[in-house]
Amino acid sequence: MVDQMKYMGFQGTAVADAVRIINDMRAYRHPETGDKTTIFLGYTSNLISSGLRDTLRYLVRHRHVSAIVTTAGGVEEDLIKCLAPTYMGSFTASGAGLRAKGLNRIGNLMVPNSNYCAFEDWLIPILDKMLEEQEAAKKKAQETGDEEDELHWTPSRIIERLGHEINHEDSVLYWAAKNNIPIFCPALTDGSLGDMLYFHTYRSSPQRLRVDIVDDVRRINTMAVRAAHAGMIILGGGVIKHHIANACLMRNGAEHAVYINTAQEFDGSDAGARPDEAVSWGKIKADAQSVKVYAEATVVFPMIVAATFARATTDSDGETRN
Ligand SMILES: NC(=O)c1ccc[n+]([C@@H]2O[C@H](COP(=O)([O-])OP(=O)(O)OC[C@H]3O[C@@H](n4cnc5c(N)ncnc54)[C@H](O)[C@@H]3O)[C@@H](O)[C@H]2O)c1
Repeated sequence: MVDQMKYMGFQGTAVADAVRIINDMRAYRHPETGDKTTIFLGYTSNLISSGLRDTLRYLVRHRHVSAIVTTAGGVEEDLIKCLAPTYMGSFTASGAGLRAKGLNRIGNLMVPNSNYCAFEDWLIPILDKMLEEQEAAKKKAQETGDEEDELHWTPSRIIERLGHEINHEDSVLYWAAKNNIPIFCPALTDGSLGDMLYFHTYRSSPQRLRVDIVDDVRRINTMAVRAAHAGMIILGGGVIKHHIANACLMRNGAEHAVYINTAQEFDGSDAGARPDEAVSWGKIKADAQSVKVYAEATVVFPMIVAATFARATTDSDGETRN
């Protein structure tokens, strides 16, 4: 069906283009080293709130992507869903009525306040342990005089730790930690995680958990610089979109780019910018294959994954593999 959408016109054609580009991204092998494309996947927080989390987890569980960039909600809601469910609601439910019932609305999804209480109970003892480790490492560095003995928590290392701690097969973070796929989140404090980190500073005073964002920008940029070939798959806009594009600037541009978002460019937003704007900055190569699909990601991305990463192929040895 998706192959035939090439001849549909409008966004149907763009979906088929996205499938072709992702399949090319996956097929690439460096002629000498055999290295594959480094695939950067970005998604906004609400996509983890939605059922698209299952599709995203499939990609991570089967090591189909090399690195992820998301925002704070994309980290915490994955963990919270392992503790308590998110419910279906409606876009039109009244805010005041929901507030009185202790329900928080994300589009047509509902998250009870109690989910965040469960998250706090789960998270705070882990933050306590992380602080203890940081302080023990600091003491050791003072004794040895070796700065390398210090422990610098970064958003990606915190996320990896939380993935190990949640130890739950439903979690994207769990599979990312298990498969050594870094999850970057430069704005880690803009969500419930930030609230917890804020409260924790008072709880742990005068000591404080320190988070180093410079180490993470080195880590993601180094991945882009060393990549034999770089591909971006970006669902939504904002920080997640630009952070991946900016990392690819360090290598003078990605070779493949698929954007899926509903944003428009007339307001000058980075969220709405087409791939061609990123070409002007050197974030996508001038001869790259790229497409922007103007669509809501939960509608089209499962279909795109089914026609790419999850598509069964028959290898030369006759084996059918995904
Ligand atoms: N569940 C949540 O959404 C949630 C929870 C906690 C915190 N937050 C915080 O809110 C802030 C803003 O969130 P954000 O940066 O993740 O993105 P966002 O929700 O503000 O979306 C940014 C842009 O991405 C595009 N987009 C978003 N959802 C899309 C979809 N389903 N399909 C296609 N395009 C889509 C739109 O153009 C949108 O303007 C972040 O700092 C985040 O941590 C969000």
